[in-house]
Amino acid sequence: MDIRPATPADVEQLIAGVAEHPAAQHHLRARWAIQEGGDGLFLLAHRDGEIVGQTMLLRESKYAEVRADADPAEINALSAVVYNQGIGTAIIRVAEEIAGEWNKPAIGLAVGADNPDARRLYERLDYRPWSGPPVVDEWTEQAADGTVVRTHADECDYFLKAL
Ligand SMILES: CC(C)(COP(=O)(O)OP(=O)(O)OC[C@H]1O[C@@H](n2cnc3c(N)ncnc32)[C@H](O)[C@@H]1OP(=O)(O)O)[C@@H](O)C(=O)NCCC(=O)NCCS
Repeated sequence: MDIRPATPADVEQLIAGVAEHPAAQHHLRARWAIQEGGDGLFLLAHRDGEIVGQTMLLRESKYAEVRADADPAEINALSAVVYNQGIGTAIIRVAEEIAGEWNKPAIGLAVGADNPDARRLYERLDYRPWSGPPVVDEWTEQAADGTVVRTHADECDYFLKAL
């Protein structure tokens, strides 16, 4: 498995793969824009010529209260196309290495209470609950023309790992 920042061709391929889902296309474009703007890396896992996983690794947490307290790099929107084959673990390992190269003191992520499988994975990889209160993950779904069609606000627990 090879994990590396997205290229324009990778992003086009991913966007073509969700042609019927404008909201997903917007998220992919937003991740690319963050990488282009220098605020993070859109990391993709490649295996046998296929993109099998992804995450957005941010230089700063999305959550102001976490930034103020621990200043971690942050893993957002981690996903694997098939589960339980080590893809998520491999992406997290590379994200941790990069965050270390950025001289960040820690790396963190938010996980929903309804996601025990992801939580178990992070705990095994030595992520521990942040001392602060739950964070609220706010995100939007957009139509093809960019109009926001739905706004979400999901309460999540925040996990940290010192680097
Ligand atoms: C969370 C997610 C990214 C984890 O990715 P993954 O590739 O399945 O993770 P891994 O395979 O590295 O680890 C998961 C399990 O497989 C096991 N595993 C790891 N490497 C393995 C391998 N090579 N072969 C078999 N099993 C393996 C792990 O021990 C772990 O076991 P567990 O279920 O007892 O905890 C994935 O489940 C996902 O995309 N979920 C939907 C989106 C989501 O919820 N994202 C997280 C938001 S916080």
